[in-house]
Amino acid sequence: MFITHIKADGFKNLKEVDIDTHKKLNIFCGKNAQGKTNLIEAIWLCSGVRSFRNTKDRQMIDIDKNIMSVDVSFKNSQREQDIHFAMSRSSLKDKNISLNGVRMKTASRLFGNLNCVVFTPEDLELSKGSPENRRRFLDLSVSQIKNSYSPLIDKYETIIEHRNTLLKSIAYGRSDKAQLDVWDIQLARLGAYISVLRYNYTKKLGIFASRLYNEISEGREKLELYYSSTVYKDLEGRTDYSGELYEEYYRVLQENLDEDIRMGFTQRGIHRDDLSGTVNGLLVRDFASQGQHRSLALILKLAQAYILSEEIDDSPCILLDDVLSELDASRQRFVVSKINDMQVFITCCDRNFPFDKNSGKVFTVENGFVREERN
Ligand SMILES: Nc1ncnc2c1ncn2[C@@H]1O[C@H](COP(=O)(O)OP(=O)(O)OP(=O)(O)O)[C@@H](O)[C@H]1O
Ligand SMILES: [Mg+2]
Repeated sequence: MFITHIKADGFKNLKEVDIDTHKKLNIFCGKNAQGKTNLIEAIWLCSGVRSFRNTKDRQMIDIDKNIMSVDVSFKNSQREQDIHFAMSRSSLKDKNISLNGVRMKTASRLFGNLNCVVFTPEDLELSKGSPENRRRFLDLSVSQIKNSYSPLIDKYETIIEHRNTLLKSIAYGRSDKAQLDVWDIQLARLGAYISVLRYNYTKKLGIFASRLYNEISEGREKLELYYSSTVYKDLEGRTDYSGELYEEYYRVLQENLDEDIRMGFTQRGIHRDDLSGTVNGLLVRDFASQGQHRSLALILKLAQAYILSEEIDDSPCILLDDVLSELDASRQRFVVSKINDMQVFITCCDRNFPFDKNSGKVFTVENGFVREERN
């Protein structure tokens, strides 16, 4: 799929943006703080997936204005489609969102129409950084192919908070242990299901990622990925999340109860799991070099794009926010070669990009205005 036209006004600092985009390559150049990432975010907004920058609704509107609007037209194999997204400061809850003129109640209803993969400098820390980042990566990846997934994660997190509060209260003798059960049953139900979904996604990811890693290391290194569960020893072939897996999750919570009360938080569960890997048999977490971490991060994102592509049977739009400049020339070439049949939006501060300018369009971003450069 590819975006043909973008309009944006009052979305953060963006002003009167009205551009025809190139089917393949779109490069947005500008100094710092001019609106490049804001433009990427405006596109992402229309994907119906939650903000990759954690922007709250009211932060989306230009601080000097009362309304914002974003319009994106795109084509997939079937037809041309339009998304309209507008919101005013006085009625943040009542957004004006539509797909092909049909009103949508919430932004998440847009899900599954404009499919994008966004790549930010923070993603380059994916392999090296904390497990939390990798969990977030997995959750976002799963939510892109399964719309009902995000609310489950939100619910799980709310319940964990309740449980942890209760654990502390029990430790101080203000509450009774028996009160935990209502949370534990819910945690085990959700946790078992989420574990299966994450495990299955990781398996797919592993297939794409090991192939890509083999290529980037020119056949020298073998990558294996796996989902490290703090609850289950092995999830292979297991799908009975409302039976056996639920019971096991529940049992693990019970077994750790006294320790949880002593520590004041829930120590085992999907909120402590990780996406792990080995390269040539050595644990990435303990042994990988800086370069290996970087390659792995890139590959995880590319594999994410490939899985999405397979799932929707179309190519997603790739949004590369400031990442190419962070990579050395050979990794830049690698990324570019892997996405060259998809539509790409790239932001950068300098003009040393590994692309032929004539194979796409270059835009200048300045003080929220976006203008096409004409030779
Ligand atoms: N709600 C808002 N109203 C007005 N301006 C905003 C709002 N939110 C963010 N901005 C401003 O938008 C400007 C551009 O931000 P953006 O992140 O798009 O910059 P950028 O061009 O990507 O810069 P960099 O190269 O540093 O990443 C920032 O100066 C920021 O303060
Ligand atoms: Mg930026």
